[in-house]
Amino acid sequence: MSRKYLVTGGAGYVGSVVAQHLIEAGHEVTVLDNLSTGFREGVPAGAKFIEGDIRDAAKWLDSSYDAVLHFAAFSQVGESVVKPEKYWDNNVGGTMALLAAMREADVRKLVFSSTAATYGEPVSSPITETDPTAPTSPYGASKLAVDHMITGEAAAHGLGAVSLRYFNVAGAYGEQGERHDPESHLIPLVLQVAQGKREAISIFGDDYPTPDGTCVRDYIHVADLAQAHLLAVDAATPGEHLICNLGNGNGFSVREVIETVRQVTGHPIPEVTAPRRGGDPAILVASAATARERLGWNPTRADLAGIVADAWAFAQR
Ligand code: UFG
Repeated sequence: MSRKYLVTGGAGYVGSVVAQHLIEAGHEVTVLDNLSTGFREGVPAGAKFIEGDIRDAAKWLDSSYDAVLHFAAFSQVGESVVKPEKYWDNNVGGTMALLAAMREADVRKLVFSSTAATYGEPVSSPITETDPTAPTSPYGASKLAVDHMITGEAAAHGLGAVSLRYFNVAGAYGEQGERHDPESHLIPLVLQVAQGKREAISIFGDDYPTPDGTCVRDYIHVADLAQAHLLAVDAATPGEHLICNLGNGNGFSVREVIETVRQVTGHPIPEVTAPRRGGDPAILVASAATARERLGWNPTRADLAGIVADAWAFAQR
């Protein structure tokens, strides 16, 4: 059955891929994005586009919407350490306004883009949703604050909500792929070396307590991630706030990622060892058992070489 969805941040990387999947599933999609970090051309064909801020969501939201999928946020861990106020203002203040607009318009379903950064340094691996949350950056703290806000909204006002805590999203889908300005994520940066846009990749620390000394992350294909959102919007139950990790449960080190890029691109990819980057946990791997059980989620693109190949195709466009 066709439904009507508001997708905030639908001009960004993950939001645009989810919006595309919703359209392909036959739904009506309105993208709300202030283009502060998103790209106008990221909005999928077939979506209605509103250039505006989530703080003003009440201007556009009405009871004809079945649900909101909320991606709009700042997401750079490093920047959040230097400008925490920017993260509290937009991520927390903006979401407060969005929740108020949803209450006012009687839109009672929400899927929220949360993050592994809410956990901070893990106490065990893989990470489950009941593990302690002790974020090590204002970015993670702002997303955790929103998760708490949503829990209260569900309990007090009957919102049906699902928070999806992403691990390392990568790959591309259709016209949409990962691009940030400036780029800070590992896979797009290594691909820039393959393209001759940079000399070498810096490995931020090779003395971590991991098998090869470099940090281990759980890379998840953006299309698998998008599928989880479609399942989550159906699973949202009035009065309940469900929290699900999204990852493949497999960790790959920085060196393994670089080696995979070598295999996919055929480029030698020179590497240099650099100091550790502040705030990087050694290992971040998800247990996605909750998403499998509660959402019926079943990722089909877990192969790292496939994820990198899709990102490579996008980078060469
Ligand atoms: N890295 C390098 N060299 C680089 C870039 C990254 O060695 O040039 C390393 C990082 O130190 C890290 C790994 O590659 O160990 C992955 O780094 P990314 O920046 O690609 O991703 P993060 O794991 O830091 O961040 C991701 C999301 C964040 C989220 C975080 C925790 O992008 O939004 O996971 O969930 F907050």
